[in-house]
Amino acid sequence: MVTDGRPILFITRALPEAVETRAASQFDLRRWHGGPASLAVAAEDADALLCTPADRLDASTVAALPSSLRVLGTYSVGHEHIDLAACAARGLTVVNTPGVLSQATAEFTMLLLLAAARRAGEGERLLRAGGWGSWSPAGFLGTQVSGKRLGIFGMGRIGQVLARIAAGFGMTVHYRNRTRLDAAREAGAIYHADDAGFLGAIDFLALCAPGGPQTQHWLNTSRIAALRPGAIVVNTARGSLIDDTALIAALQSGHIAAAGLDVFTDEPRVPPGYLALENVVLMPHLGSATVETRNAMGFLALDGIAAVLAGQMPDNVIRPAD
Ligand code: DGY
Repeated sequence: MVTDGRPILFITRALPEAVETRAASQFDLRRWHGGPASLAVAAEDADALLCTPADRLDASTVAALPSSLRVLGTYSVGHEHIDLAACAARGLTVVNTPGVLSQATAEFTMLLLLAAARRAGEGERLLRAGGWGSWSPAGFLGTQVSGKRLGIFGMGRIGQVLARIAAGFGMTVHYRNRTRLDAAREAGAIYHADDAGFLGAIDFLALCAPGGPQTQHWLNTSRIAALRPGAIVVNTARGSLIDDTALIAALQSGHIAAAGLDVFTDEPRVPPGYLALENVVLMPHLGSATVETRNAMGFLALDGIAAVLAGQMPDNVIRPAD
């Protein structure tokens, strides 16, 4: 429904200031305050809906969305929280935010990798708790990243930026991907056609692949066993890539020396087993959380929504095979 000449955009979360200002200039902006009404009911009359990875747009929610709705945007590149088949079935176009968050997410992956390797979480917790005795030659020894082998699972846009950053830290990059990249995008990284060869060759594992059924619990007991003893794991992709029970057991036994985790299967819930471990750095899904990147994501989503409402097919429309 169009009021005062502007289409209605329904948003499920507060947006960064610049994005909200622009959204309000283009659209009749309506907000969801949670509460008793379901998202689908609260979005009545909306032409467009902008959701986030924290919203579940499953088949029944999509079916219940108002008939006025023509486009669904997600404030994310990941889209496993949306039932795309259900959207397609009711002719709803979906747009996301690819590309603009690769640098921020790759930088954050490197931060987690360094924090896990250098025991940064443990050190900070000790200091804040008043437990810092004195500097000691043998205290808090971690692992250097330079000269080590980083394995990247999922060599898409984020994986490729991470590979460049890691090379700058003197790491050798190995990768596992559905297909081998061309030489320019591979940029010297070593491709592995099978999991066993990949996992056995690396000291650090960074998960950068999309969530969804194809990668569900990819890092399971047998793949963890294929990693070298003392390997370090980081995940800024989706929690669903990891079998948490298996990883927690490996962190307890020391087979995995440390982990850095930014994403969890059932956010904001974190498996209690991780909370009890000193050798894990835990973050609340901050990979893309910079002002620059969250603004760019918002603008891209708004551009896509406006284009679809104008009858166009922008580049950030999610196609079923994406
Ligand atoms: C995404 O875009 O999918 C990210 O998880 C948000 O940071």
